[in-house]
Amino acid sequence: MKETIEKIKEQAKEDIKNISDMKILQNIKIKYLGKKCELTSILKSLGSLSIEERPIIGNLVNKTKAEIEELIKVKENEFKKAEIAKKLEKETIDITLPSTKFIRGSKHPVNRMIEKIEDLFVSMGYDVVSGPELETDEFCFERLNLPKGHPARDMQDSFYITDEYLLRTQTSSVQARTLLKYKDCPEPIRIIVPGKTYRKEDDATHSHQFCQCEGLVIDKRENHVSLADLKGTLEIFVKEVIGDNLDLRFRPSYFPFTEPSYEVDVTCFKCQGKGCALCKQTGWIEILGAGIVHPNVLEMNGYDPKLWGGFAFGPGLERLTMFRYGIPDMRYLYTNDIRFLKQFDRKEND
Ligand code: DAH
Repeated sequence: MKETIEKIKEQAKEDIKNISDMKILQNIKIKYLGKKCELTSILKSLGSLSIEERPIIGNLVNKTKAEIEELIKVKENEFKKAEIAKKLEKETIDITLPSTKFIRGSKHPVNRMIEKIEDLFVSMGYDVVSGPELETDEFCFERLNLPKGHPARDMQDSFYITDEYLLRTQTSSVQARTLLKYKDCPEPIRIIVPGKTYRKEDDATHSHQFCQCEGLVIDKRENHVSLADLKGTLEIFVKEVIGDNLDLRFRPSYFPFTEPSYEVDVTCFKCQGKGCALCKQTGWIEILGAGIVHPNVLEMNGYDPKLWGGFAFGPGLERLTMFRYGIPDMRYLYTNDIRFLKQFDRKEND
């Protein structure tokens, strides 16, 4: 009997040694340790042995079973380890592969322009202020020396919501709001007002919604804020936000809230003043209206025009943006073509 058990053990050892995968291991386990295995039948037949032999053989069988079990366990662990190693190898990250590209949003060119202008004017001591886009007739027109029925109202086709409320046609509306804010204790004002404006226009060169940036400087008369200051300010402005080597031209014009009033042109960015289709062969492109604040505006909004005076200006921002980035058609700015917007991806500090 002992020999048979020894043989089974040796055979099991041999079998376990040669196992090549987990499946065979399971079969071997059943073969040597299962309910119907040889060792179990030996145990079952212990009754036919002598009383002295029974415990000896019983012990031997149990010991052998435990040994075989241990060998199987070792083999099982070996397989498990190999399996994990294989899996890990499969999952290793190839750090030499190129990474997936992050798709970044980009700042809209008009917003870039606004930020540029804000930085410039803040550096010159101006405050950046805002006002409501849904404005009253009073602030948009009346307090800017444009009473009801004034012919100059026709210069701006307005979106009226009610008789009194409209979408502001110009950021100049914030001039009156700012003056009134300080009327009880007037003090010098230096502000810019970038923001959206609306007009009932929609053709190739106009959009029903566009952006302006109003500028207003008011100081005591004794400080002599003059046309020369306006000119100097606009020269710096154009140089910084559009580019060097551009000439400025002041043309006498009319705005109800300034006197004298000017329209200001810059050298055409496309032909450098030689004349082209964009500038209608003139070599100049109009970029803004400006002038010396009308005494009526000061008076109506609580500032004594004998004691206070200053200048104002109001460029449209789409045009400036087009000049700065060489954009040939204003509609590109608002059609949201991703291919167009993407071009501004990398110009973070521009
Ligand atoms: N608000 C005017 C417009 O929309 C532009 C303008 C002209 C603004 C003269 C001014 C100014 O401040 O002084 O056409």
